[in-house]
Amino acid sequence: MNRATPPPTSDSLQQAILNHIPDQAWLKDRDSRYILVNEAFIAATGRSEGEILGHNPMEIWPEELGQHFMATDRAVVKKKERLRYEEKRPGPSGELRWYDTIKTPLINLEGDVTGTVGISRDITDRKAMERELRESRAQLRELNAYLQTVREEERRRISRELHDELGQSLTAIQLGLESLEERKDEATWVSSLASLQRLARATILSAHQLASDLRPAILDDLGLSAALEWMLESFTARTRITHEFHCPDRVPNFSPETSTALFRIVQESLTNVSRHSHATQVVVEMQQHANEILLSVTDNGQGMDEQVLTTSNRLGLLGMRERSVMLGGEFNITSRAGAGTRVEVRIPHHGAGHGQDAAGSHR
Ligand SMILES: Nc1ncnc2c1ncn2[C@@H]1O[C@H](COP(=O)(O)OP(=O)(O)OP(=O)(O)O)[C@@H](O)[C@H]1O
Ligand SMILES: [Mg+2]
Repeated sequence: MNRATPPPTSDSLQQAILNHIPDQAWLKDRDSRYILVNEAFIAATGRSEGEILGHNPMEIWPEELGQHFMATDRAVVKKKERLRYEEKRPGPSGELRWYDTIKTPLINLEGDVTGTVGISRDITDRKAMERELRESRAQLRELNAYLQTVREEERRRISRELHDELGQSLTAIQLGLESLEERKDEATWVSSLASLQRLARATILSAHQLASDLRPAILDDLGLSAALEWMLESFTARTRITHEFHCPDRVPNFSPETSTALFRIVQESLTNVSRHSHATQVVVEMQQHANEILLSVTDNGQGMDEQVLTTSNRLGLLGMRERSVMLGGEFNITSRAGAGTRVEVRIPHHGAGHGQDAAGSHR
């Protein structure tokens, strides 16, 4: 004779189903007394099942929360409608967490509400991700606007320089050449010619300067390390902040995008050093590790405190971070008030052997 296993009772079945749900779940009568609760719910209250069943939220939760739960239960019972809302309340270990809660009325065949069933899902991580996404979108929008302004300013500056510098100089050369036609005596001719030659040389220099401000030709011609060295030389000449530059003998052949991004990051770091740090020395260092390149800019200036670092909404640091991320890398800035600042970029690189002479033979 086979002894059949007795079928589970409907209560034990409900309990088993509820316990399978990782979210907090419960069943209440129409007066908000708990009839059935699952393990996740019990853990969240910090009480035993016996202390919960037969009691209402006012007797289980802190007063304010209890009142809130009772009020939402009443609304569900009264309107006979499902209610869904997000709320912040203490989680199992006491810290505040976000929950997505759904409360549904239980309606019998006569159409009367006999109780409510509820489920609460912990959405704290999702909320944090949503916030990060919102913030990073806002930052991107700001960065985009900033880049547009910078581009516009750059255009204005170039057009002004083309007009005021190159335009004026070329006009002066043209007028000078015209007047030469009328000069008869040799002495004035020779001296005018000499001054026109000087003007032409100065004009060529300005044109070079303008072009190298736009994109340092040295970056394409001689490679990143030579371009960084050149930038540091002119930085020291301009600011009187001394520099050290350390770089391996052979540095990798970076793609134009990578070398431009690294160049611009060091450029922005140096601008920050001269604008904000009151430093007397800056050290730029490039290291090649097995799988990555580490580039750092360290100053011995006044540094900044943690707060500026985390709350600054200026765009220089953000732009450097974005450039690093676009190279698949990481950006870090460490600083303490009075103890200098160090900017660090790590980008993945697996190019051992593809060397370029640090002195700059970029073939
Ligand atoms: N080397 C540094 N030493 C001291 N403070 C610094 C240094 N670099 C940055 N800071 C601080 O961090 C802030 C943010 O720098 P960030 O480059 O983002 O903005 P900014 O230079 O003020 O303006 P911009 O958006 O034009 O670059 C600066 O305003 C400054 O207070
Ligand atoms: Mg800046």
